[in-house]
Amino acid sequence: WSSRGLGMPVQIPDDSDFSSFKDQCLSPDGWTSRYSKGGVTVWTRDQENQTVQKLKMRIVCKDVAAETLYDVLHDTSYRRKWDTNMIETYDIGRLTVNADVGYYSWKCPSPLKNRDFVTMRSWLPLGNDFLIINSSVKHPQHPPKKNFVRAVSLLTGYLIQSDGASCSTLYYLTQVDPRGSLPKWVVNRVSQFVGPKAMRKIYKASLKYPDWKRKHDPWVKPWMFPEQNMLQNISASDLTLQRVESLENIDESGVSEEKRQNSDKDPSST
Ligand SMILES: *[C@@H]1O[C@H](CO)[C@@H](O)[C@H](O)[C@H]1NC(C)=O
Ligand SMILES: *[C@@H]1O[C@H](CO)[C@@H](O)[C@H](O)[C@H]1NC(C)=O
Repeated sequence: WSSRGLGMPVQIPDDSDFSSFKDQCLSPDGWTSRYSKGGVTVWTRDQENQTVQKLKMRIVCKDVAAETLYDVLHDTSYRRKWDTNMIETYDIGRLTVNADVGYYSWKCPSPLKNRDFVTMRSWLPLGNDFLIINSSVKHPQHPPKKNFVRAVSLLTGYLIQSDGASCSTLYYLTQVDPRGSLPKWVVNRVSQFVGPKAMRKIYKASLKYPDWKRKHDPWVKPWMFPEQNMLQNISASDLTLQRVESLENIDESGVSEEKRQNSDKDPSST
């Protein structure tokens, strides 16, 4: 490939990537259930490579159409309203009619350092299913920032399945390399508390979205109408795969759990 040399070229997901992602969401093989309460289920999977964490979650969304969930996951303006863990998000450029690159940073439970990502996102509506797949990429103009740990998403995505006109099921699957070793309490807290809470937050945000969207550019949905996409065009050859080895390793394995902040309170402990 190009003169940029160092680094694996980026492949934009094709139909077979979407269908294998869907299979992973729907297949129970190899997954261990860790949590199941009030319509939310969480599974984890043991990896040979200890630093990589694989997590799958599912939530049943009564009174929310699949299309609405799909819009909520795409709508950056709306995300600023409901996603209180987010610090900043912006779009970087458009790759194709159904793929782009964006930046996202989020608050980690104290005393861990905050994380940020640059990801390629691609999406595909497929009959009753809607899919979004993200993975970390390197963009020369968006290097790791000071005060953040650049996190690596090997593969993260959403599958939304329609269960009738106003009911749907959302799957979230992630294979993240959080860089360095995370202490066990973090992993447990993600599957027992942070994860289910995040799924319920998406669900709640989706219940309110139709009303919000009616008042905020109701016809603007560039993920659905590519001609509305005003992002600058970028080429996949400007990107390389973000790999963990090229990043500074952070060891937070010795960090112990601190008293939590109000916004992140575990209801079972109050
Ligand atoms: C993946 O991309 C979707 C659509 O842009 C976004 O809503 C979601 O937050 C991203 N997830 C991650 C973990 O990057
Ligand atoms: C980006 O490329 C598409 C098609 O390749 C074109 O239709 C669109 O106008 C371009 N957008 C910009 C902002 O240049």
